[in-house]
Amino acid sequence: MALVNYNDVLAYAKEHKITVGAFNAMNMEMAQALISAADKKNSPLILQTYHAHVDYAGADYMQAITDVASRHTDMKIAMGLDHGRSFEQAKLCCDNHYTGVMIDLASENYDYNVKETRKVVELAHARGISVEAELGTISDADRSIEEIASGYTDPVMAKSFVKDTNIDCLAVSIGTAHGMYKYTPKINFELLGTLLQDVPCPIVVHGGSNTPDEEVEHMVKMGIAKLNVGTDFFNAYIGAVSKVLDEKGKKTDIIEMMAAARNAVEEVAMRKLDILTKFRV
Ligand code: 13P
Repeated sequence: MALVNYNDVLAYAKEHKITVGAFNAMNMEMAQALISAADKKNSPLILQTYHAHVDYAGADYMQAITDVASRHTDMKIAMGLDHGRSFEQAKLCCDNHYTGVMIDLASENYDYNVKETRKVVELAHARGISVEAELGTISDADRSIEEIASGYTDPVMAKSFVKDTNIDCLAVSIGTAHGMYKYTPKINFELLGTLLQDVPCPIVVHGGSNTPDEEVEHMVKMGIAKLNVGTDFFNAYIGAVSKVLDEKGKKTDIIEMMAAARNAVEEVAMRKLDILTKFRV
């Protein structure tokens, strides 16, 4: 099926009481693995490109790979820019037919974040492309629990941010973080409940890797719309490549190595999707 926008997959998720996986890919094998997992698990998916991977691989390459991969399934697949750094980067992805873009100016002041996010919304919505933005600080996972908590999203501000920008979904800070956790994450479910109730758009949680399954399950049950996961797939990929290289050294067959990486990513993705679709109706 051709790529759809975020609103299309998010509406499907709401209707079926699932959380959409927003999984990061940065090459063909990862895109194939993640979309194959979605197909096997009968689940929609957002396949997204981290801003640095757009710089590395090119928005045109990543869009083309994802577009081809999405035609290998009947599931709804969207294609997004993850943590877009500027209006210009968001525009680049819109020009290259991404169906969703995230503009992340959460580290800037509120007014600048609103102004630039609105610019992205005007451009993207005119082309049927969805927009995600962020409020609060989603830290890196090597920070202390206290540091992570100091960036929590303020629900009152979040409500006005959504009204001021007209975004389609909001990434919030509730205790998850990006990368490998140094300490077991402490999710603030009370804050999440308030955000889900008060914020007038779907809620996105980042930092889905190595967050304990029970915590993810609880957030899914509460109704988060989209869960971003990246590091778990990168680690699975690197782990599989390393294993083949350790075993075969210079005699490594390149197809065997890439296939092992693709299979490892697919397996991790299927396990994640089991949790995200656990309460499907
Ligand atoms: P992880 O790499 O921790 O899964 O976070 C991914 C993410 O939130 C991308 O936006």
